[in-house]
Amino acid sequence: MIEIDKLSKVFKGSSHDVQAVDQISLQIKKGEIFGVIGYSGAGKSTFIRLINRLEEPTAGTVSIDGQNITTLDKKALRLSRQEIGMIFQHFNLLWSRTVRENIAFPLEIAGLAKNERNERVNQLISLVGLSGKEDAYPSQLSGGQKQRVGIARALANNPKVLLCDEATSALDPETTDSILSLLIDINEKLGLTIILITHEMHVIQKICHNVAVMENGKIVEQGSVLDVFSHPQQPVTKKFVEQVMGKPDQDVSDEPFVQGIESGRVLKLQFVGETTNQALISRVAKQYEVELNIIQGNIKQTQAGAYGALYLHITGEDQVIDQAISFIRSTSVEVEVIDHD
Ligand SMILES: Nc1ncnc2c1ncn2[C@@H]1O[C@H](COP(=O)(O)OP(=O)(O)OP(=O)(O)O)[C@@H](O)[C@H]1O
Ligand SMILES: [Mg+2]
Repeated sequence: MIEIDKLSKVFKGSSHDVQAVDQISLQIKKGEIFGVIGYSGAGKSTFIRLINRLEEPTAGTVSIDGQNITTLDKKALRLSRQEIGMIFQHFNLLWSRTVRENIAFPLEIAGLAKNERNERVNQLISLVGLSGKEDAYPSQLSGGQKQRVGIARALANNPKVLLCDEATSALDPETTDSILSLLIDINEKLGLTIILITHEMHVIQKICHNVAVMENGKIVEQGSVLDVFSHPQQPVTKKFVEQVMGKPDQDVSDEPFVQGIESGRVLKLQFVGETTNQALISRVAKQYEVELNIIQGNIKQTQAGAYGALYLHITGEDQVIDQAISFIRSTSVEVEVIDHD
């Protein structure tokens, strides 16, 4: 477990000081993927760099599995850093070294013998999906492949924790997805704790279990991804949720897709953490004499199941529709009947 207690960082300037991180306290559980989201200048990079002391804190503590990182001397810090891997937005690879040599670098520093090193590098190359690229130079790789090298290098010494500073921000959406899938994969396979910072809410939606929202150096809101998505409190959090879910629903009864409907009813199904939304719809269609049409929907998959709303047009006998609605409600999916005409 990682415990962060009243962590602060002030950058002293000649004209004024900048409080980049302001009394952050957080607990991050072993094996979870914890996201920190915030706009540019919120203090995210400073915060994550305080965790492995690439930046020295002005006040507060960070402890990992009970060891206080903030008071370690240089030598002890070097050892403890082997337990904390880090990846960066711009990869930070060694350009004159091949893929294999980049990944071997932290193992050389750790003093591993050559044959052990080679064996470990081969394992890592296959783990991150870079087989066949061992002897390529970074300049010959795509952005996604470069980040895979960064991930392999960060994992070389079997760290307990992986820190990711905007690791997908330089990548296109498809490549971002493939790197996020790789992070989920290593989180599950290795039980690695991952802390990632980002300004993109879909990154949080896709891979995090818990999230904290950062503004002006402070954590202004935190919780499970589903809770934060379904009940965002702060204006900044609402804006981030809108990035992936769109504006919250206004009254849809005036929408043309509702107004044009003459028979049956329009239902809004709200999913929070369901894993089986498709199965539910097909079960309703099979079990009840009703016709179902999906008219609009916005459902996102999170690590804790599906989240979002689906609008259905349901036709059939009134009584049967009522039964179908009761059935859907019994599965814990919220159902709202939308007025029309
Ligand atoms: N080395 C430094 N010296 C002085 N001020 C700094 C230093 N590093 C960061 N800052 C300031 O601290 C604040 C937080 O910066 P930080 O880089 O942590 O933000 P960020 O959330 O990572 O932003 P971005 O999304 O743009 O990467 C900013 O006001 C920045 O100017
Ligand atoms: Mg940053």
